[in-house]
Amino acid sequence: TYVVTDNCIMCKYTDCVEVCPVDCFYEGENTLVIHPDECIDCGVCEPECPADAIRPDTEPDMEKWVEFNRKYSENWPVITRKKDPLPTAEEMDGQADKLEKYFS
Ligand code: SF4
Ligand code: F3S
Repeated sequence: TYVVTDNCIMCKYTDCVEVCPVDCFYEGENTLVIHPDECIDCGVCEPECPADAIRPDTEPDMEKWVEFNRKYSENWPVITRKKDPLPTAEEMDGQADKLEKYFS
């Protein structure tokens, strides 16, 4: 599966949702997540994210992000249409430890 990771938080560019063939992105207040069981591993969303926040779970230390994506995708509404990024997107892009500092 692919998962959304730290750098989406407080950016939420949403370019990713338009290309997903199975509509498996879900929207929270300041980040998106992918449902790991619905993702078909096509990989087309990865290069679409301006914040480089989408990663394959084959990369090291991805377990926590798979769990994070699974947990919230089961509670948040699906999102299939691009919308404006969060107003904080530019200044927050690339900041460290956003999950600990800013996730709500
Ligand atoms: Fe959707 Fe493909 Fe990205 Fe999975 S890898 S979230 S199926 S676009
Ligand atoms: Fe987030 Fe990137 Fe999509 S910032 S909303 S994963 S385009």
